[in-house]
Amino acid sequence: VKIKKAIFPVAGMGTRMLPATKVIPKEMLPLVDKPILQYAFEEAQAAGIEEFIFVNSAGKTAIEDHFDAAPYLKSVLAKKQKHNELEALKAIETAPGQISVVRQPYSLGLGHAVWCARQLIKDDYFAVLLPDDVIQSDTPCLQQMCAAFEKNPGNMVATMEVATEHVSRYGIIKPGTQINLRTHEILNIVEKPQPEQAPSRMAAIGRYILSPEIFKPLDDHQQGAGGEIQLTDALASLIGTVPFYGFCFEGKRFDCGTKMGLLDANIAFALSREDTRLEAENILKKYR
Ligand code: UTP
Repeated sequence: VKIKKAIFPVAGMGTRMLPATKVIPKEMLPLVDKPILQYAFEEAQAAGIEEFIFVNSAGKTAIEDHFDAAPYLKSVLAKKQKHNELEALKAIETAPGQISVVRQPYSLGLGHAVWCARQLIKDDYFAVLLPDDVIQSDTPCLQQMCAAFEKNPGNMVATMEVATEHVSRYGIIKPGTQINLRTHEILNIVEKPQPEQAPSRMAAIGRYILSPEIFKPLDDHQQGAGGEIQLTDALASLIGTVPFYGFCFEGKRFDCGTKMGLLDANIAFALSREDTRLEAENILKKYR
């Protein structure tokens, strides 16, 4: 089965980034020279995704505008012979009809955000990408996961080891049988456990491949940790019905939903790009 559809939940309020996110969506904050969301979008494109579904909320229409054609801006750039800028805009254009937007009317949690896109998914396996998790890797993370999924179809989540003092920020998994170097079975998953209750230090991070079966438990609107409708709880309830795998991706993940995480990512990405490395190194030298 090839994964053709991806959901991008972008309806959150980004409270940890206030006041930057008072009027600018968190997903539109810049990482070097592109919005955070653009990175997850390109990762999905690289994985062969053809239909992109944004779960958005009121006041964040800059997100869908970013992926629109902007004919006036392009004509101005052409007239002024700003070829590089024009090419940069063309490079991020999408085909007409590739993007759909559904609304999540209330921020009831990630599980609820995914559920809001159910009518666009129908009977296919699909991907979910949380754009504030930005992953720097040789092969884009979702592409790695799609290859693993072809060998072992089922629900799949990207996993990463975290420090004991951080387990209460994540969904934490109880790993089962190792299938190969990067894929392992998941016996259980618990949202935001206290360290003493955590089944391991393996955290779920924001890349998923999901069976449409996930909409059945999500239909119940059960509240979990923090009073939110958790995707983690829906995944846990399908264990035994749908195979469930963790995938230890190759790459480095940045939490761009926090102020220092976004700064860290900006430094790492600027240092890793040919066109920005030297200048970034010179800036950093000033602070040593
Ligand atoms: P986060 O919890 O990181 O995002 O959810 P948030 O709620 O915007 O951030 P804070 O905690 O207030 O700072 C991860 C992703 O899930 C989306 C968010 O937009 C983010 O991309 N999300 C979360 C929704 O779409 N709906 C929700 O109800 C919750």
